Amino acid sequence: MYFQWYPGHMTKARRMMQENIKLIDLIIELVDARIPLSSRNPDIDELGKNKARLILLNKADLAEDALNDRWISYFKEKGYSAVKVNSKKGGGIKSIQSVIQEACKEKTERDRKRGILNRPVRAMVVGIPNVGKSTFINALAGKACAKTGNKPGVTKGKQWIRLNKNVELLDTPGILWPKFEDQEVGLKLAFIGSIKDEILQTEELAAELVKFMNGAYPGVLEEKYGIPAVGDIYGCLRDIAESRNCIVRGSELDTGKAAAILLEDFRAGRLGRITLERP
Ligand code: G4P
Repeated sequence: MYFQWYPGHMTKARRMMQENIKLIDLIIELVDARIPLSSRNPDIDELGKNKARLILLNKADLAEDALNDRWISYFKEKGYSAVKVNSKKGGGIKSIQSVIQEACKEKTERDRKRGILNRPVRAMVVGIPNVGKSTFINALAGKACAKTGNKPGVTKGKQWIRLNKNVELLDTPGILWPKFEDQEVGLKLAFIGSIKDEILQTEELAAELVKFMNGAYPGVLEEKYGIPAVGDIYGCLRDIAESRNCIVRGSELDTGKAAAILLEDFRAGRLGRITLERP
């Protein structure tokens, strides 16, 4: 399987981000706690040089908590402010306002010395498709002010959101980058649902997920689906099909359906808290 997904609206969005960067004090970068490195767009470091940086480890509820903490330390050691959040349930959201102020304190101090008082912090919120940006902004703003959607690639225009007198956010569309140098990165992005499913081969993708789970979380699939020990990868998909009663044409096992169920269960956290990358 070869992964690449960089449709025209992402090029456009990237240009919009470049055009607006001069207005920005802080970049709030959402990453997925299950793949904190692979979900980082390498273009953002270039875009955000000389800006204050905050990394939010979102969907922390879907990843192993001990590893979340290790990732937070990892990013802090690299000089970023970093916090774990669960935007869906609001976990970690309360502290964000003060984290934003803290991340920008050098700049606020510089402003103060130049006699500029009470200028709001302007933050650009960035992240790959489906990382939870809309959910995060909604949770932070306390009302449904950013559009949420469950499909990666829903185009959204430029959008400033005034949180209060201290903070203004610029929402940006979820974007990837032109080429995944490491195809493992593409694979992980596909696992978590950040690459449009329509261009993926579901069964092959699910087979890769079986392979990963079998190595890193042995026993989990067997327990979840009540199936025999995973041996042959495609055999495992057939076992899942059988156990979930996925049948086509009267009696054939529908491994395509089983693959879709497995991916959906993983993405929704129904296989438990799973981290695909370790610091
Ligand atoms: P985006 O703007 O970055 O594209 O992402 P969006 O907010 O639309 O969120 C994408 C999906 O991720 C949504 O699920 C959303 O609920 C879920 N999500 C966002 N943050 C978190 C989090 O911290 N934890 C968990 N577990 N999920 C999160 P969905 O299936 O599309 O919608 P829904 O069924 O949850 O409403």
